[in-house]
Amino acid sequence: MTINKLQYITVKQAKLFSKTLVKWYAKNQRIFPWRQTKNPYFIWLSEIILQQTKTQQGLPYYNVFIKKYPTIDKLANASEQEVLKLWQGLGYYSRARNIHYTAKDITKNYNGAFPENYSDLIQLKGIGDYTASAIASICFNKKEAVLDGNVYRVLSRYFGITIPINTSLAKKEFKKLALKLLPNTHFSEYNQAIMDFGATICTPKKTNCSNCNLNETCFALKNNMVEKLPVKKKKNPIKKRYFNYLIILDSTNKTIFTKRESRDIWRNLYQFPLVETLQEINTQKLSKNTKFKALIKDYKIEHLTKINKKLIIHKLSHQHIYASFWLIHINSDLENSIAFNKINHFPTSILIQNFLDFFINSEFLTTFD
Ligand code: ADE
Repeated sequence: MTINKLQYITVKQAKLFSKTLVKWYAKNQRIFPWRQTKNPYFIWLSEIILQQTKTQQGLPYYNVFIKKYPTIDKLANASEQEVLKLWQGLGYYSRARNIHYTAKDITKNYNGAFPENYSDLIQLKGIGDYTASAIASICFNKKEAVLDGNVYRVLSRYFGITIPINTSLAKKEFKKLALKLLPNTHFSEYNQAIMDFGATICTPKKTNCSNCNLNETCFALKNNMVEKLPVKKKKNPIKKRYFNYLIILDSTNKTIFTKRESRDIWRNLYQFPLVETLQEINTQKLSKNTKFKALIKDYKIEHLTKINKKLIIHKLSHQHIYASFWLIHINSDLENSIAFNKINHFPTSILIQNFLDFFINSEFLTTFD
């Protein structure tokens, strides 16, 4: 089917599609705590968390957040540092900063109540088309259609749409189609039905076509294209970055662990002093590095050693980080430092956290005592 043909989807076809899904959902929906409520604060939290991760991995984060912040003003009154710490491990930390910002905004400027309409919701920081549609339909029964990865996949296969789903054209065309397919009632159920259906039946791999209530009318199944759809356009090549973290320890086991301020990944998370290089470097090259020399100029180094012999690779969506951790003992007192055993109180990237979990449990620290 070409995009032009989308407009020829008949009311009958749309009805068959949405009715089948709503019926399927009534029997087969997954049970989640956010399905037991219409409270927009809880739905908002769950939807933002679920943009980060699959439901099973998102569940413990959701439970921790609503326990710690049972109301929006509790979240608004928390420190950003604490929120980032609870978010740690989910990635895309701007989402955590945005939920904190928006909690404050709603508490202060909206009397603590979420707006009910898509057009008002989408004004809020961190709330885009998907989240605004989800909150409006699930909590306020508004006629809005959600578009997430599951919905793109189901629509693309069932209707045979070959527009690459990671393009702005797709956003426009799939949205038009999704709106056309909405039933006249049950917007919350329909939206959640199509997402659950994508997550459990019309899955990315190992699809469950024999169990699918729409298999008799599915374009992709009929045309042997289930595995070919949806189409995705190839993205830019992944950028490689080399991060050298300096764990500087003075004689009283103090170290430097500061907030990342730059407009880059992991903004506002804490880290050891960082020397970024264009490739992997050895001890000699590090010693000659200008930034390294500037960082260390006031101190006399007693030991300098690379802790991980092999680079630690941390993959993000558009870049791969190749990390080395260097242990540096100095004999004088470090300025602007904190006790090494206090650094766990600060939010940090999962790359550093994983390293610390290994490092703290290893013999390394005592080797140089
Ligand atoms: N994925 C994200 N939000 C969802 C929801 N409300 N229902 C099903 N799947 C989802």
